[in-house]
Amino acid sequence: TKKVLLFGDIGIDDTVALIYAHLNNEIDIVGVVADYGNVSREDAIDNIHYLFETFDFPKEIPIIWGAEVPLTAEQPTYYPEIHGIHGLGPIVPNDHELVIENFFQIVEIIKKYKDELIIVNVGRLTSLATMFILYKDLMKTVKEFYIMGGAFWVPGNVTAVAEANFHADPVAVKIVLSYAHNVTIIPLNATQKAIVTPEMVDYIDYYGKTKILKPLMDYYYNFYKERDSAIQGGPVHDALTLLAPIHPEIFTYKSYPVKISQQLEGITRGQSIADIRPYIQVNKKQKKHRIAFDMNYERFFHNFISVMIGE
Ligand code: BDR
Ligand code: CA
Repeated sequence: TKKVLLFGDIGIDDTVALIYAHLNNEIDIVGVVADYGNVSREDAIDNIHYLFETFDFPKEIPIIWGAEVPLTAEQPTYYPEIHGIHGLGPIVPNDHELVIENFFQIVEIIKKYKDELIIVNVGRLTSLATMFILYKDLMKTVKEFYIMGGAFWVPGNVTAVAEANFHADPVAVKIVLSYAHNVTIIPLNATQKAIVTPEMVDYIDYYGKTKILKPLMDYYYNFYKERDSAIQGGPVHDALTLLAPIHPEIFTYKSYPVKISQQLEGITRGQSIADIRPYIQVNKKQKKHRIAFDMNYERFFHNFISVMIGE
C-alpha cells in the first residue's frame, strides 16, 4: 500500500478524497495536515475530526495543525458558496476535543516512512512550502509529491487564468516547485473532467459505505450547476489527485519547466505557465515537473465507483 501524507484545505472535494482514501486498500493515509483554504484552518480541523469519527478512521492517524494564513500575509478568502459555511456543504460538524498534533509531527512522519512516503497536496501550498523552508534536506528523503493545482492553457476557476490552490499563495507554489523533486502536478486540465454526477452519488450511497456523500455532492454540484447548467455533476479535483500515485495509467503526462506568476496584484496572479519551447526542452539544466494534461474518464469512473462502493 502507498503511504500518503495528505495536506488539504478540507472542503467538499477534500472530504470526498479522504473518504475515497479510507475505502481504498491501496492507500494508507499516515497523516492529514489541515490548512486554511476553502475554509479556515479551524474548520478544516473540525472537518477532519468529523470525518474520522463518521468513518471510524484509525485513531492513530495524526491530525496536524497546518497553516492559517498564506506566505503573502494576506487575509485568506474562503469559499462557503462552493464548500458550505464549514466546508461540509450543509453539514455542521459537532464540537470535539481538539486533539491535534503540532506541525512538527510532519517531521516524525517523514523520518518514519522515509523513501516510502508520498506527499499529496490538495490544498493551498503554504504548509508544504514551510516544510521546505525549515527542512529542505529532510524533504529530499520523501519519495514523491503530487500537487492538485494549476491550469495550463485552460481557464482557471478563481480567475480567468488561475486555479484556486495556486492563486491563494503563489509564493508558496514557487518555493515548492523550486525545491521539491519528483513532483507531479494534477491541474484543472485533468481534474475538471473528474465529474461525479447525482446518479453516481445515489448509486454509491445506495451501498452505504459513504453515508454523507449525497448532502456533500448535492451542495457542491448546485454551485457549479448555477454557473453552468450544462455541467452534469461536481468535479472531484482532490479525489482524482489521489488516484495519481496508484493509477498513473489514468493520466496523460508531459514534463515541462513550470513558473507561477508572482504578480500578487496583477490579473496574472497565480497563473501557472509551462515552457514548451523546443530549445528549452533540450536544456537539461532546466528543472522540469510532470504535468497531467489529461485523464481517461472511463478508467477514473470505474476505479472511483468500485472503491466508493467498497468492492
Ligand atoms: C482546488 O481548490 C479547492 O477549492 C479544491 O478543494 C481543490 O483542491 C480546486 O481548484
Ligand atoms: Ca482542496
